Order: sequence, then C-alpha cells, then structure tokens
Amino acid sequence: MERLHCIFSVCVMCGVLASVQRTSAFPTGSPVSACSDLMPVHIDGELQKGASPYMIILNDTVYGSAAIRVSITAVGPATKEFMAFMLQARNEAGSPQGNFGDVPVASKAMTCYKDGDTLTHTAAFIRQSMEVTWFPPANNVGKITITGSIALSKVKYWAVESAPVSGRGAQDASTIVRTSSGSGTVSHLSSACLILLTVFAKLANRF
Ligand SMILES: *[C@@H]1O[C@H](CO)[C@@H](O)[C@H](O)[C@H]1NC(C)=O
Repeated sequence: MERLHCIFSVCVMCGVLASVQRTSAFPTGSPVSACSDLMPVHIDGELQKGASPYMIILNDTVYGSAAIRVSITAVGPATKEFMAFMLQARNEAGSPQGNFGDVPVASKAMTCYKDGDTLTHTAAFIRQSMEVTWFPPANNVGKITITGSIALSKVKYWAVESAPVSGRGAQDASTIVRTSSGSGTVSHLSSACLILLTVFAKLANRF
C-alpha cells in the first residue's frame, strides 16, 4: 500500500510539473505561466527543427552600466517575418536578468520574476525586424544570452538564442554555475520524476 501511495505521489508531482510547462501563449501575448520555458503551446504550435531564421544581434559583447541595444531580424531564406515572441536575458544559471525598455510597437516588457524581465508581443503584428533596449543588472551575473522563442505564425515557431555577452568586473559568486549541463530547472525536475517513476515501477514489479 505504501509503495502504491509513493507511485501515486510521484505521478501527481509529474503531472503538476508537466502542466507548468504547458500553457497557451499566442497570439495575444504570453501569459506568466510561459515564463519558465518561454515556448508557446498553441494547440497547433510546432517547434521547428533546424536553424532559426531569426538573428539576434547585441551592440556590445560586454555589459556594464550602459544599456545594450538588441536587434532582432528575420533573415530567411524563406522566412522573412515574425508575429509573436517571448524573450528573456538569461545567465548561465538560466535566471532572467535586467529588464527591457524602449519596447517596439505591439509589444511590452512583462514581469515574469522581476520587473520587466521579459519581452513579448501584445498583438499578432507582422514585422521583419525590431529593436529593444536591455538594461543589465548592476552586478556581473555571468554570461548572458537573449533567449526564448519567435513565431512566424500560430503553427510555426523556433527556439532562439543570441551570442553571449559577458559582464564587466568580477562575477557575483552566487551566480557562478558549477556544473556545465544545460538550463531549465523544470525539465531537470521532470527528468528526475521520470527516473523515479521507472524505479518505482520496477520495484512494484519485483515485489
Ligand atoms: C548600445 O545601445 C545602447 C542603447 O541604444 C546605447 O545606450 C549604448 O551606448 C550602445 N553601446 C554601444 C557600445 O554602442
């Protein structure tokens, strides 16, 4: 009985984590519940494999006290525009840093964890490019990339990531990542759940 109870708890935990990841996002702006994986989960939405047709360029390779201009352009070859997006400036620990300002038309800086840490569209406005200003945090929190997703339509979107910008000066010790494996706590937890489930299933079979 106790074992069954255990399996049930693990299942519930996995279900909760999975639902955290699955949220509807497009086309009227991303909800706060999309904050962790930054992916739209429209019923027909499909993450496109292969190189993203969108380029994210920052006007500096180092951040300090100055703002950074972020330019996002559809570079094709077939895909020359985009309609929706959800982007954050994340450090190697996967946590969003700084905030967005001077936002382009039909978009807003929304708050996922800290004030204005996420850029998203507010309407299905078709564009070829856009610019936004990213205001870095006061301290050096390690390498930052602009990351998230950009959608051509309700059904086609890509995961995007810029080249990294490094912080000036000594890095804040609390932000130094010791293991080099990936990002996204939720997906790590989901994998851990899956492993636990498998172990429990094997144990249940054995006894
Ligand atoms: C980058 O753009 C920001 C915002 O427009 C500006 O304040 C900053 O001086 C620029 N940095 C460089 C190195 O040109």
